Amino acid sequence: MNELNKSNPIGIFDSGIGGMTVVKRIISALPGENVVYFGDTARVPYGSKSNSTVIEYSLQNARFLVEKNIKLLVVACNTASSVALEELRGHFDIPVIGMIEPGAQLAIKTTKKKKIGVIGTYATTGNQAYSEELLKLDSEIFVIEKPCPLFVPLAEEGWTDHKATKVIAEEYLHELMDLDIDTLILGCTHYPILAGIIQEVLGDGISLIDSGTASSMVVEEYLKQNGLLNDSGNPGRHEYFVSDMPTRFKDVAERFLGREIDQIEKVDLEYLTRHT
Ligand code: DGL
Repeated sequence: MNELNKSNPIGIFDSGIGGMTVVKRIISALPGENVVYFGDTARVPYGSKSNSTVIEYSLQNARFLVEKNIKLLVVACNTASSVALEELRGHFDIPVIGMIEPGAQLAIKTTKKKKIGVIGTYATTGNQAYSEELLKLDSEIFVIEKPCPLFVPLAEEGWTDHKATKVIAEEYLHELMDLDIDTLILGCTHYPILAGIIQEVLGDGISLIDSGTASSMVVEEYLKQNGLLNDSGNPGRHEYFVSDMPTRFKDVAERFLGREIDQIEKVDLEYLTRHT
């Protein structure tokens, strides 16, 4: 692999702000990597849309990033990972890493009671992508999946420590706690933004699995094994693109990343959809 390929960016997309939880993990694990992020803020949420719509949007988002010469694509959206991964792998000639497999693997390593909860969007939990993956890894695992759709707007709004978020979290999570799970997969990239409040409601006995952390470990391993790590010694460049409302994105993203973002560019939907 030549220098040019090593210095090519990692492409990451999500339906909105949630993928920033994955960006955070990737840039802290791999500070030398260049990153291009696309958040589809004009069309969020994906979790209440049909599989065919999510596949179409995912292909458009990936094409936008592939045109930026990315060396690897991270689908930092559980909904898109649960329905569009095969299509993406079939369409593009670069490695594609999603959220489901890494998150399931980390959950299996973590659970002691073999009782795992999964929270996500209607699409992710309805597709049962985590259950399928977990049971493939260990057929004795008990899995319960539950949609928590209101967490997405709360995370987008930046309500990380708000009493309304706590009430909603209690309402969603009591059923899982009653089932005595010891591990909960945050099966939506928006949810780690609310991890503090979710952990507070669950108490210390339940471990949270952040698929962003799990997938960043897989990304690092892949780059190492394939000689694709950017070893220039310089800090990575990070570029951000969204399809709507860059200013609002900047506020929440900066708060979440804990660092300033210099520039966020808006991509017109017309440009994004021009291939279809
Ligand atoms: N980021 C999406 C996910 O991880 C949730 C937001 C949405 O519904 O688009 O599933």
